[in-house]
Amino acid sequence: MRSAVLAAMNLLASVGSVPDSIFEGSPVDCVRWAPDGATLVSGSEDYMVKIWNTSTGKCLRTLEGHQDDVWSVAYRPDGQQIASCSDDLTIRIWDFASGRMLKALTGHADSIRKVVYSPDGQTLASCAWDHTVKIWDPASGSCLKTLQGHKNDVWTVAYSPDGRQIASGSADRSIKIWDLHSGRCLKTLKGHKDYLRSVAYSPDGATLISGSDDHTIKVWNVSSGECLKTLNGHTDYVWEVAYSPDGKRIASGSWDVSIKIWDSSSGKCLKTLTGHSDVIDSVAYSPDGQHLASGSDDYSIRFWNATTAEKPSGSATISSSRPGQRAWSQARRSRKVGRKDMEVIV
Ligand SMILES: *[C@@H]1O[C@H](CO)[C@@H](O)[C@H](O)[C@H]1NC(C)=O
Ligand SMILES: *[C@@H]1O[C@H](CO)[C@@H](O)[C@H](O)[C@H]1NC(C)=O
Ligand SMILES: *[C@@H]1O[C@H](CO)[C@@H](O)[C@H](O)[C@H]1NC(C)=O
Repeated sequence: MRSAVLAAMNLLASVGSVPDSIFEGSPVDCVRWAPDGATLVSGSEDYMVKIWNTSTGKCLRTLEGHQDDVWSVAYRPDGQQIASCSDDLTIRIWDFASGRMLKALTGHADSIRKVVYSPDGQTLASCAWDHTVKIWDPASGSCLKTLQGHKNDVWTVAYSPDGRQIASGSADRSIKIWDLHSGRCLKTLKGHKDYLRSVAYSPDGATLISGSDDHTIKVWNVSSGECLKTLNGHTDYVWEVAYSPDGKRIASGSWDVSIKIWDSSSGKCLKTLTGHSDVIDSVAYSPDGQHLASGSDDYSIRFWNATTAEKPSGSATISSSRPGQRAWSQARRSRKVGRKDMEVIV
């Protein structure tokens, strides 16, 4: 089955398009494009980080070492290194070209849910269920700062495009904006009624979007802290949100098994993308804004034409031959969702 899928993908390469989908060995928690768009990195629940050729859909390298689910992956802005974080309480830094592990950063005391590089690639930010955000020097492996203030698990973190601020989103239902230099919390944005799962700055840094278990996406004015818009339409958790590189569109991936594309200025939903068969954990625009990639618990990574919001033309549809999919156990799913029963309501 698998070789037939790969053969189909080889055919796709000859038509010069990205594949329809890639089949993973387990639920896919995070997908990120390389800065040159030639490769994509994924983190998954088989403890692996994988690098894929985006024109053939072939796995180029598997980065092995994590000892538990890999929740988040990131390319350094120059594409030479990859960072990943896991339930094994480590952040690992990998050399892109060789696939060798360079460093394992330790210091978080609980599940690490997101790792991101600063725009200049000099530092890393991570967030965890230990209620903190940490800033790291990936070259030395040392923790430079620990940002404390959230009252519950921190699920998401993002650098502002100018690299001066950090936004974090938590199970305490708030977003905090931090000054990176001083480590001070500048603002706390309140309005979501449930866990925050994702935050992203607009390319101009003026607005911030957030995705929450309350089924909504909110658009915030970063300087005033005011909520400008609430985007309604999803019917389950909004797990990841992303701005298109030109800032005109917002993509959201939800546990309602759909992806939505929104007009960022009007807040109108333009398209709903269906095709996955299980919850969507990750959405990412390609650096040129032409493609959208999505990762799902259905074990697949899918590619969409970001303009038409459709599958790439000329590619085969192979969604019926999904290998290895299994039903999720309730225990596993509730572990992924977090500790809602233990939460501190603020
Ligand atoms: C991806 O595959 C194509 C077709 O085989 C090849 O030309 C290209 O160099 C590959 N890219 C990478 C980054 O390996
Ligand atoms: C954001 O707030 C600032 C300061 O209050 C204001 O000057 C600016 O126009 C606002 N921007 C948007 C997009 O609402
Ligand atoms: C997306 O679809 C449009 C309209 O069919 C087409 O012009 C464009 O080339 C497609 N983009 C990619 C990257 O396939």
